[in-house]
Amino acid sequence: MPSKHTYPLEPWCIRETAFDTASHFLDETLFALGNGYIGLRGTHEEGYTGPAGTSLDGTYLNGFYESEAIHYPEAAYGLAKTNQFMLNVPNAKGIALWLEDERFDPLQGTLNSYERMLDFRTGVLRRVLEWTSPQGRRVAIASRRLVSMTDKHLFAIEYEVTPLNFSGKVVLVSSVDGAVKNLEAGDDPRVGSAISGQSLALVDAEQAPHFSALTQRTVNSGFQLVSAVQTEMRGVFELAQRRDGADGQRLEQVYTVAAMQGEAIRLNKYGSYHSSRDYPEAELLPRARATLAAAADKGFRALAQEQEHYLADFWQHADVEISGDDALQQGMRFNQFHLLQSAGRDGKTNISAKGVTGEGYEGHYFWDTEIYIFPFFLYSKPEIAKSLLEYRYAGLPLARERARQMSHAKGALYPWRTIAGVECSAYYPAGTAQYHINADIAYSIKLYMEATRDEDYLLQYGAEIVLETARIWMGIGAYDRAGRYCINEVTGPDEYTALVNNNYYTNAMARMHLNFAASIAERLAQEQPEAFARIAALVQLDADEVPQWRRAAARMLLPYDEALQIHAQDDSFLDKKVWDFAGTPKEHYPLLLNYHPLVIYRHQVCKQADVVLALLLLSDEFKPEDKRRDFDYYEKVTTHDSSLSSCIFSIIAAEVGYQDKAYDYFMETARLDLDDTHGNTHYGVHTAAMAGTWMGVAYGFAGMRVVDGAVRFAPTLPKQWRHYQFKLHLQGCLLQVRVEAGRTEYTLLHGDALAFSHRGQPVALSAGDYVKELA
Ligand code: BGC
Repeated sequence: MPSKHTYPLEPWCIRETAFDTASHFLDETLFALGNGYIGLRGTHEEGYTGPAGTSLDGTYLNGFYESEAIHYPEAAYGLAKTNQFMLNVPNAKGIALWLEDERFDPLQGTLNSYERMLDFRTGVLRRVLEWTSPQGRRVAIASRRLVSMTDKHLFAIEYEVTPLNFSGKVVLVSSVDGAVKNLEAGDDPRVGSAISGQSLALVDAEQAPHFSALTQRTVNSGFQLVSAVQTEMRGVFELAQRRDGADGQRLEQVYTVAAMQGEAIRLNKYGSYHSSRDYPEAELLPRARATLAAAADKGFRALAQEQEHYLADFWQHADVEISGDDALQQGMRFNQFHLLQSAGRDGKTNISAKGVTGEGYEGHYFWDTEIYIFPFFLYSKPEIAKSLLEYRYAGLPLARERARQMSHAKGALYPWRTIAGVECSAYYPAGTAQYHINADIAYSIKLYMEATRDEDYLLQYGAEIVLETARIWMGIGAYDRAGRYCINEVTGPDEYTALVNNNYYTNAMARMHLNFAASIAERLAQEQPEAFARIAALVQLDADEVPQWRRAAARMLLPYDEALQIHAQDDSFLDKKVWDFAGTPKEHYPLLLNYHPLVIYRHQVCKQADVVLALLLLSDEFKPEDKRRDFDYYEKVTTHDSSLSSCIFSIIAAEVGYQDKAYDYFMETARLDLDDTHGNTHYGVHTAAMAGTWMGVAYGFAGMRVVDGAVRFAPTLPKQWRHYQFKLHLQGCLLQVRVEAGRTEYTLLHGDALAFSHRGQPVALSAGDYVKELA
């Protein structure tokens, strides 16, 4: 495990001032750049010669995957057959530097100074260093790198080297290297894929002065990929092309310069990726050329300006300001920045558990999107939220197919984990059994409708998804002898408890889902009969289905323990033996790496929030005293081994009045990756927890809840903070909420009118009366 790093606490950046092999692996994740499609780990242009196992020079494309058959020594009907995993694609950022016959390597010679900074406002990774070679040549190197937020296919590097105490030959070798592999799976189920060796086969390579392009093909998924680079250098130089590496998959442009002491040499490099997931094969190379030519025309500086404008707009809508707490402020913005870098926004891709920063969880999309990440985008950058929903619509045909495989005659079942829509979960007890994924998706559509009132979306896409997915509850549920509607043999969010009957979260979310589907159907039948007729015909809705949904929802079994006066996580949870927490050594956490699943399943022990998450999502279904009792009980049996847990506990702690706990849990989430508290950030950031930080402020401290479209706040201010402030896109308006000691200020920044409530008191803002200060 890489050593942890402490960066200076700065509000708008992370900065490292030493080149440290011990933290290198981790830094590669933290300094990664991305734009929702391309992800470049924060490795250095010149490569790395540090100890084995301290680096992963990864480049990823969101949604670009290879597939592999899943082999089960003991097969069973309906198990997921194919895995899809995000590929490590050619490394196109390489720039090797030679001073006469000495290759620049920060681990040789002397690094006189070193600084690297990732600036959240510019989106540029800047590195400045000065180095003396073993033979005494001194150089200054300054580089800047960006992955364009406005062109998903493009990244750019500006690389400048200045000889400080010599004149002589300087060689810069710009490369695109196609001989890359993914990490191989070890014992940690959260890391690596089962495939070893190279997944991309060479199709073609092309080199011309300043231009190199590699065309490769994935063996099983059958995609073609063009990885191309164009370089630019001013002044006098010699240029040669070289082909190197295994199968000649490394293409180099070699620039040789007779350098003069004190004169900077600058190389600009533009890189692009285009794949047949997006375009016909014949278009890939021409598109790569066009992208690179346009970028070179603009130049690095103009691209950097574009990037800054894009981010200025993002921060104007999304920034959460926390004053009086630098560590949290940095963590918050770091998280928001990485979320923006991670989210697919083309309707074909989504946001994976690790974004595009690493190979943990194989680039898969989970419920993390809908339940954790979606609110951040919905209220801060709604167009991205919408494209996340579009992705699910695109997956509906495969979800229908999966439902048939699972013996459901009707409806659609979304995969627990996937890239292109097929179920990729090879361990069904903590995978396919999490049927709650269907309700989670419906929940996000409900949230989207309440925040945007985008009726067109509902008619075109949303209703179809909600109706189809709701049907699954009728497929897996049944009335018991007492007439209660039961959902058996499922796994709830807590993955330390599997295959149970009547998981509270699942049943309560299913009830919400069934009622939501029924209301959509009933309302559209009334208000939009033609549109409704079209949708009903499309999904072949029978007349008796909607009443059946209402009935099942009304009779849904929601386990409650009268003796303890808490909601039971499922039918059997509270009867199990409580895990021996006192007797479990610290190094045995996370439990999943140290105990057989059956040992864990036999105990009362939670990996993450389960009932406690229901307290948040279905807030009004619980009495305040119930919330507090549930929190108290489940807190004692929860390990938070999942990074999805602390943020939810923070929010509910704030609601039930445990301010210190709220703050502590929030702190754990806000700096989870920066401080590597889960010890695995080197495999990629934790996108759900990152978004959980945003929820921690809005839902937690500001007490925001949206219930059936009605928005309310109940702000509190942690004693460690002077004030905090955030913005929300709601119903076509932009609202700013600022909380100070004893005072909350609501400002309508855009829009005509917005109504909500503050501690139960109605507030109405309008263009003419746009600020309200309340105690
Ligand atoms: C959690 C899941 C989550 C997955 C991906 C697991 O550890 O238990 O809830 O979806 O990680 O983030």
